[in-house]
Amino acid sequence: MPIIAVIGAQWGDEGKGKVVDLLAEKANLIVRFSGGDNAGHTVVNPYGEFKLHIVPAGIFYAHTVCLIGNGVVVNPAVLIDEVNQLNERGVDTSRLFISDRAHLIMPYHTLLDGLEEEARAGKALGTTRKGIGPAFADKIARLGIRAGDLLDKEALRERLGSVLDYKNAILTKVYGADPLSLEKVYQDYCRYADYLAPLIRETTIMVAEALDRGELVMLEGAQGSLLDPDFGTYPYTTSSSPLAGGGCLGAGVGPSRIDRILGVFKAYCTRVGSGPMPTELADEVGDMIRERAHEYGATTGRPRRCGWFDAVAASFSSRINGFTEAVITRLDVLDTFSRLKICVGYKLNGETIDYFPGSIAALEKCQPIYKELPGWQATISHIRKYQQLPAEARQYVDRLEEIVSCPVSIISVGRGRGQTIFRGSNW
Ligand code: GDP
Ligand code: IMO
Ligand code: MG
Repeated sequence: MPIIAVIGAQWGDEGKGKVVDLLAEKANLIVRFSGGDNAGHTVVNPYGEFKLHIVPAGIFYAHTVCLIGNGVVVNPAVLIDEVNQLNERGVDTSRLFISDRAHLIMPYHTLLDGLEEEARAGKALGTTRKGIGPAFADKIARLGIRAGDLLDKEALRERLGSVLDYKNAILTKVYGADPLSLEKVYQDYCRYADYLAPLIRETTIMVAEALDRGELVMLEGAQGSLLDPDFGTYPYTTSSSPLAGGGCLGAGVGPSRIDRILGVFKAYCTRVGSGPMPTELADEVGDMIRERAHEYGATTGRPRRCGWFDAVAASFSSRINGFTEAVITRLDVLDTFSRLKICVGYKLNGETIDYFPGSIAALEKCQPIYKELPGWQATISHIRKYQQLPAEARQYVDRLEEIVSCPVSIISVGRGRGQTIFRGSNW
């Protein structure tokens, strides 16, 4: 049986939570593979509405094992809180496990994320301030503390002691902040260890065994491809790879095991945080999309920047991920527009280009070139069959399909599980 990867194709918040919750019905194992609690995955299902930050969106089915992969950075306090909240709302989390290799977000990471953002002043990245960048930086700098370290409290104290000396020097000498107490941090993480120890596993074996049994495994992406540190709008990016390739590294599976790569696209674009977004609409049309779609961050509550669908960015995203299929979400948000625009190229220094520039200085100068399409001006959220969509809506989807160079196999027309149109025989 295959692995299906569900990947954010734009700047995040494409609706990955809905898609994973929907498709997890047929899966046996779900692995979150990147990011941390910077993610906010909204799920609307018979249990209610949830904004998941760290627990995989497959948690609502009795038969799915949910793994927090090695590629995720875990804030134990946030995870424990989220698990408790799920339990209080009647969701069983007994099938949740954490990779022993997943790095932990420590109190100095969240502090430094905030202090670094303040220091950037007018050039702040607009991070979620959850400690994500500092935690991934420590992973690469070989200063990280991993979930597996919670299993040996003696070793944890020793490791924490040496790292905290260094972190306290930065907090006090660079930022003039107060140092953290080793004893306090150690005691807190010992408490987390007591709670989390039974969940910590060698998860790559669990994935491999599920595949060997012929079960369906899903990789749950976080963030979006244009926030990738290599291919996104660097430095206005996140700090781990949201791409399909990141799925291999962050879950511990080889590329040959992934059969289907679903790129999740909104029918328009949004971005939260700073950095270039060529199709951003800083006008009443942008406001209209934001209010109609309630485009406010699931993690920070910040208003999302809204704009038309960017075909240049979308085809780039499709290329670097190798999408085998696309999912179009929030098509219903466009119901009221009489004309729709798709950005088909950029004007840069008087020339027309059709590629996504690597330099943000260039990207900031890019002016979108739009092609207009007619809107459908009808309600579509009750429709479940592609052929029943208004002709203009089908035309719009067909155009997106050409842009992303792979079949659109799911169209989402509302927040609920059921508000979905499946296409093709592959489901
Ligand atoms: P994620 O981070 O990719 O999981 O996406 P978010 O949960 O941050 O944001 C997506 C938002 O869109 C959530 O509020 C979803 O409930 C909502 N949503 C998902 N699909 C649809 C859809 O087809 N139509 C509408 N109107 N809302 C949707
Ligand atoms: P989901 O999984 C949208 C953005 C932040 C900021 C940048 C860096 O819900 O799609 P970070 O805290 O990661 O260092 O912030 O990345 N960002 C997201 N934007 N959706 C997300 O996740 C995001 N996770 C991070 O707003 O611009
Ligand atoms: Mg989100």
